[in-house]
Amino acid sequence: MTYKICLLPGDGIGPEVIAQAEKVLRALPVKLDFAYGEIGYGTYQKVGTPLPDETLEKVRSADATLFGAVTTPPNLPNYFSAIIRLRQTFELYANLRPCKSFEHPSSRPGIDLLVVRENTEDLYSGVERVEDNGNRAISERIITRKASERILIKAFELARQRGYKKVTVVHKANILRESDGLFRKIALEVAPQYADIQMEEMLVDTCAMELVRAPEQFEVIVTTNLFGDILSDEASMLVGGLGVACSGNIGDKVAVFEPVHGSGPKIAGQHKANPTATFLSAAMMLDFIGEPEQAGRLREVVADAISRNRVTEDLGGSLTTEQMTDEIISALTH
Ligand code: NAI
Ligand code: MG
Repeated sequence: MTYKICLLPGDGIGPEVIAQAEKVLRALPVKLDFAYGEIGYGTYQKVGTPLPDETLEKVRSADATLFGAVTTPPNLPNYFSAIIRLRQTFELYANLRPCKSFEHPSSRPGIDLLVVRENTEDLYSGVERVEDNGNRAISERIITRKASERILIKAFELARQRGYKKVTVVHKANILRESDGLFRKIALEVAPQYADIQMEEMLVDTCAMELVRAPEQFEVIVTTNLFGDILSDEASMLVGGLGVACSGNIGDKVAVFEPVHGSGPKIAGQHKANPTATFLSAAMMLDFIGEPEQAGRLREVVADAISRNRVTEDLGGSLTTEQMTDEIISALTH
């Protein structure tokens, strides 16, 4: 079996970390056929759009896609974020952000959680307007049964698949009585279908506090788009931050995996980017295409390098991006 993988390097440190991930993936005993796609601000400067149709076609026809990062310049009229457009085009409705402790001073111990964030609606629907001569701004918060149901089902299914025992449904239904009220109502409908999984509810402000106080208590957290955006960034800081934070955008037909970080313009071209976040995103991709054994090996080798402080500067190590990659490849092949 040969899997078709689409690689989207993008801008800044995106191409640097994707090149490392390709080397690591090639060192594994899995048959992968790579196709490169153009994306981001550099692509816009060359061809007038950050997301050409050929790139969409490559993503559509691949078994999975690994994306680096793009630069999204503010104040450029008619410009759009290529990754947000990708999520919309392919209805990548579930954003998965796992956080697991490393044996390293930058990580707190005992954490093994998965944030499942709704990725298509809420305040990100883009329904906004101004009134009163620009002195009153309104963003509509849209929550639908369809999107809530599929993200809640996804969260419970993932909990079951991955051996988690508890799903925490995070909302603010005490105040947002209609929108989060609907999300909560659907959670209460879905949960009884998973008798083996405990469901608990938590208000989002309490959850933000509990993530700092006692993060070990969480297993799967499922929530709406904006809350998930914020809580998953918070959770990633508990285990080492942007250099290690991985994610997957999952739809029914297409999946795009990506490090959480952006294009890192301040460190681009300096061999400083930590490739770990992209390696762990590649491991999520291997799980997704049906190679969980290789995914597990890759995670183990990465965790081992981190525990020996064979890491880049952001984690207090002294290795370059390429040296850290070589360390991982040599562990995988010996
Ligand atoms: P950023 O994630 O690029 O950088 C934030 C900080 O983390 C910087 O200090 C950077 O040097 C550091 N950092 C990021 N990744 C790192 C890595 N792998 N290893 C070591 N250090 C790392 O976010 P920033 O600076 O806010 O945005 C830069 C550009 O990236 C902007 O144009 C923004 O729109 C875009 N962006 C793109 C994203 C994507 O493609 N998914 C996500 C976030 C931002
Ligand atoms: Mg974010």
